[in-house]
Amino acid sequence: MTKGIHPDPAAVVIFGAGGDLTWRMLVPALFDLYMDGWMPEQFSLLGIDKKEMSDDEFITRAYDGVSRFSRTGKPEDDRWQAFASSIAYVSADFNDPEAYHALRERLDALDGDQPRSTIFYQATPPSLVESIVTNLGKAGLARERERSRIVLEKPFGHDLASANELNDMLTEHFDERQIFRIDHFLGKETVQNILAFRFANALFEPVWDRRYIDHVQITVAEEVGVEHRGAYYEHAGALRDMLQNHLLQVLCLTAMEAPVSFDADEIRNRKVDVLRAIRPIPRDDVRRFAVRGQYGAGWMEGEHVPGYREEPGVDEHSSAETFAAMKLFVDNWRWQDVPFYLRTGKRMREKVSEITVHFKPVPHRSFPVTAEGDWQTNYIAIHIQPDDGISLRFQAKRPGPQLRLSPVDMRFTYREGFQTTTPDAYETLLLDVMLGDATLFMRADQVAAAWKVVMPVLESWEDTIPADFSNYPAGTWGPEAAEALIAQDGRSWIHPTTRV
Ligand code: BG6
Repeated sequence: MTKGIHPDPAAVVIFGAGGDLTWRMLVPALFDLYMDGWMPEQFSLLGIDKKEMSDDEFITRAYDGVSRFSRTGKPEDDRWQAFASSIAYVSADFNDPEAYHALRERLDALDGDQPRSTIFYQATPPSLVESIVTNLGKAGLARERERSRIVLEKPFGHDLASANELNDMLTEHFDERQIFRIDHFLGKETVQNILAFRFANALFEPVWDRRYIDHVQITVAEEVGVEHRGAYYEHAGALRDMLQNHLLQVLCLTAMEAPVSFDADEIRNRKVDVLRAIRPIPRDDVRRFAVRGQYGAGWMEGEHVPGYREEPGVDEHSSAETFAAMKLFVDNWRWQDVPFYLRTGKRMREKVSEITVHFKPVPHRSFPVTAEGDWQTNYIAIHIQPDDGISLRFQAKRPGPQLRLSPVDMRFTYREGFQTTTPDAYETLLLDVMLGDATLFMRADQVAAAWKVVMPVLESWEDTIPADFSNYPAGTWGPEAAEALIAQDGRSWIHPTTRV
């Protein structure tokens, strides 16, 4: 995570180069890194996919992706030409061992006078991963332990058993330190800032525990529906797609102990400690701890939108959840009996990702009842998106002759605080892979520990068909049962629009 070193010469080989991820995210992120001067001087980008395409066709598509999605916008001609001169495309069958020998020869031919890192990026559907990894291993492309790295996109397995199998297969060919499992939430500036906020300030850490904190809420709400990913969602659902990875990672950063250093393994050890401390959800009492939902048709910003079961690729009787909420406890000295409420969903009222840390009420209310007005307990809100920043809610006296209290916010925003654009998560993560820094990537034991947390819920949900689906209209904050999940404890969700 400590940048400042320039990456060594690098070759980035993207498997699945014809796909959406490469076009929308990877090439634009590499181009933005190039524009900001972070790319190594000697750099090659080799796209590989089944589809027949010439170098020029691939470069034209890359240009289109960069023009539409890069942070720096439509490239100027000379900058684009310089960047594009490093791009090439190879059409190959991922199952053909010969293709990997040819790849090896091609990479060998690149060797310059300095050592080069080779990054194999899996931007393919998960079903192809085994064949690609095995073939890379057999062709000797994983052998350079210090310089050859593999990057994998989620999902890492479909459940605990398949995640373990995937990890075993990977470590047959690559060392754990060569494997970079992406959870793109960890590349977001605001998510990384949780550590700076907690551990670079003396102010918050002394109150960051069960003595002062009543509970924590983590919300990742999206306005979009499943879009063109209905077929994938049918097998994944919100629990696998979002909660098992992004939300649990955010929980780890919020709840972890202070690291001794910013060494990759030190940070990852502290995070995995949190996952291991999560109290197992009893398999026969899942309903008290977890809620699922599926969106029906509804209205979003004045437009009628279809329900999940009407989306392309979705079964008309689908049981896949597009919303998941969970109550978890972290059984350790710091957090004993402090509930963490997590929720995520598609087609919710607003796009918002945030953590709110709610403090206990003051021990004694000395103000007259007439002064209390809409008294609220203090909370710190870490806004991950869209308005990246941090705010602190506290009480203030309303101006005027009467003694009246009102909640107010002290607020920091990245936009105003730093007056600069923040890099996209993929920029941060790709640069870290080139630097060989694994801090923001998932280690095998973290992946397994996160699966263990959700397994009782997954199994219980798979065993029972939800009778009430769809149970929330598009454009709302999710099903009633999610309100009940937190209301049973005498608390309520913070809804961004109703916050003030
Ligand atoms: C992905 C999920 O990991 O994260 C998507 O597969 C989801 O379903 C996306 O939409 C959300 O990411 P972001 O960065 O847009 O909040």
